[in-house]
Amino acid sequence: MIQSQPLTTNGYYEERYRPHIHFTPEQMWMNDPNGLVYFEGEYHLFYQYHPNSKQWGPMHWGHAVSKDLILWEHLPVALYPDELGMIFSGSAVVDHKDTSGFFDGKPGLVAVFTHADGDLQRQSIAYSKDRGRTWVKYDGNPVIPNPGIKDFRDPKVFWHEDTEKWVMVLAAGRKVQFYTSPDLKQWTYVSEFGEGWGEQKGVWECPDLFPLTNETSGEKKWVLPIGIDAGAPSGGSGTQYFTGSFDGKHFVPHQPKETVRWLDYGKDFYASQSFSDVPGRRVVLAWMSNWQYANDVPTDPWRSAMTMPRELTLMTVAGQERLIQKPIAELTSLIEKRMEHDPFVLKEKNSVDLAQPASPFLWELGVEMEKGGAFEARLFGTQDKGLRVGIDREKKVVYVQRDKAEGDFSKDYACTCQAPLCGDHSSFYLKIVCDHSSVEIFLGDGEISMTNVYLPAADHEVKLKMEAVRGKVEVKQTSVFEMRSIWKPNT
Ligand code: FRU
Repeated sequence: MIQSQPLTTNGYYEERYRPHIHFTPEQMWMNDPNGLVYFEGEYHLFYQYHPNSKQWGPMHWGHAVSKDLILWEHLPVALYPDELGMIFSGSAVVDHKDTSGFFDGKPGLVAVFTHADGDLQRQSIAYSKDRGRTWVKYDGNPVIPNPGIKDFRDPKVFWHEDTEKWVMVLAAGRKVQFYTSPDLKQWTYVSEFGEGWGEQKGVWECPDLFPLTNETSGEKKWVLPIGIDAGAPSGGSGTQYFTGSFDGKHFVPHQPKETVRWLDYGKDFYASQSFSDVPGRRVVLAWMSNWQYANDVPTDPWRSAMTMPRELTLMTVAGQERLIQKPIAELTSLIEKRMEHDPFVLKEKNSVDLAQPASPFLWELGVEMEKGGAFEARLFGTQDKGLRVGIDREKKVVYVQRDKAEGDFSKDYACTCQAPLCGDHSSFYLKIVCDHSSVEIFLGDGEISMTNVYLPAADHEVKLKMEAVRGKVEVKQTSVFEMRSIWKPNT
């Protein structure tokens, strides 16, 4: 249950918003996940971090490690700003063959990041010989000087097997550029992609590039997710993606220029990055905030959380190639208590209150709806204050309505996010991951996800309710799983 905390100076009960199953820094400001990599049995999570303030500022790389992507151990700051500037976003790789020569022939970790000095952005590297515990910046930094582009940042690097080279994808204004290297130190520009493609309303940031096999067609594809700092469907920052082919130098999209596909339709899913070197699956993590209000979210003594790590696959759904997201299977290890309901029918305009779980919890529900019908699931609050998830077959949308926060800290917080339904069918399955200050929704197999920060008002405890808004709704399944908390406060 939500703990009552002493009222803090600015009037909010902020510590009660502390996520219990999502990663947060113990204190101070965090934004993008950086350097996600799996090495010698540990997942590394670095992140944009300002250790002295709850506001964005001189960026460092904070650091945590985990054996299962669920329980994280906080480690000291990995990278500090220096004479070349602040340490902006980037990635990390395992240099298995010691191509860099940093590791005496053994495998080791190399981080590739942006050095930002005022408006001057350049790419640099650092290496660690002790499983990420300490880092040495390369004395030849920067490894890619600025070619005269203001927004030139966020390198994501991977080893390209076919050409036996390192490849870097880098955000450059409203497009991405590709570079290759034999050793992570000398980089050659090879091509660019994106001018005029997809959503162009904002600057492109934090690109990624990885192969996935389309499980419907069996074809191998390359997926290129990219953040835009403004212009996402729910307003503010968001993440779009392209699918296509990549030969080690050129990305060729398999979609029309104007098509825009979103990785997530919620308000708070940004700067996503996939883990490098994870055998057998592609796992992504994103920053769970939005640049519209990230600096003002009333939590204390930390600010921002990461999303639940998600496994990505690729499928064709209703004729469209789509990324499918599922919370990682490891999440089920936190389940403590299962609350189940027998199937029932809700007549039009009728609603039912369910047993109230303690937060955090997972809610899985399966409903059957008539043509033109609409259904709503409420998670918190009362009639016009709180958070609701709805599916509307007439409007062909799934939506999340988030009402004003207590304290009303930003005009952009209250919102209705919506995503178009894929195809016209009558059964819907929803998986909802609910923590003390976030609600993540996965529809169907995960072909639509919607991620939102949600800060329940003091009198808005969890309240699960289902309503047949239009037409009859058959509730085939509703299972609620209370989850064990992984949050360990400092003593
Ligand atoms: C995205 C971003 C990146 C940049 C970092 C700075 O949220 O703007 O483009 O590297 O944050 O903290």
